[in-house]
Amino acid sequence: MTGIVYLIGAGPGDPGLLTLKAKDYLEQSDVVIYDRLVSDEILAMIPRYAERIFVGKEANNHALPQAEIDALLVEKAARGHTVSRLKGGDPFVFGRGGEEAEALALMGIPFEIVPGISSAIAAPAYAGIPLTHRTLASGVHVVTGHECLHSSGTPWEVLALSSQTLVILMGMGHLREISEKLIANGRNADTPVAVIQWGTTLRQEVAVGKLGEIARVVEEARLQSPAVIVVGNVVRLRNALCWFEPDKVLAR
Ligand SMILES: C[S@@+](CC[C@H](N)C(=O)[O-])C[C@H]1O[C@@H](n2cnc3c(N)ncnc32)[C@H](O)[C@@H]1O
Repeated sequence: MTGIVYLIGAGPGDPGLLTLKAKDYLEQSDVVIYDRLVSDEILAMIPRYAERIFVGKEANNHALPQAEIDALLVEKAARGHTVSRLKGGDPFVFGRGGEEAEALALMGIPFEIVPGISSAIAAPAYAGIPLTHRTLASGVHVVTGHECLHSSGTPWEVLALSSQTLVILMGMGHLREISEKLIANGRNADTPVAVIQWGTTLRQEVAVGKLGEIARVVEEARLQSPAVIVVGNVVRLRNALCWFEPDKVLAR
């Protein structure tokens, strides 16, 4: 009998942000296929008898090419296994979960999607930055910064002129070009920006600066991927709303 694949969002890092449904399905799995950004605490919930397969994805450095991941999911479920495909954040937010679900649908493999809390909202929340605010931003754009140089669709010229909050994932490799592009297209160089590295975890670090200087600020602070970049006036609220300080959590 054919098994099933659960495409599960593992959340942004803090294991407390895993959903009850994700935990339940994970504990029933006999195969777990997971990515790089899934935390150790969540991996510890995998049953001891289950087969674990790391397919560790980083930009341009996939342990297994996407087509092989798709084929692996199909093969394991076709053999009758209960498979959890664990991804950081939400599986449908820049996680290629859509492609994996398409591959399963094409082959007639049963699947379920278990949404996760995306780093796009969780990292700003743990940095004390509400993405929308009645007087500061009526909406939010979430985009990838990974494609900046290849002009494959992110409309930077439109985003530059938007008064809504801009959240950029996978943008650390292109932070300088992104900020220059936004300014060249009309965004004020004084716009506040926050860069949140390893958001929601005890490794969380936050750098704040103006759009015109953020690339230098981040270089000096030595922040790296994974990080979420937030551009917009809502960043100012962090001064009053900063609540999560990993140093203090560690000292408790
Ligand atoms: C391939 S995308 C996957 C996004 C994921 N599906 C989500 O919903 O969070 C990887 C990017 O997510 C962001 N990211 C994931 N976890 C993060 C964290 N704990 N803190 C900051 N950024 C994170 C980074 O921008 C990273 O480059």
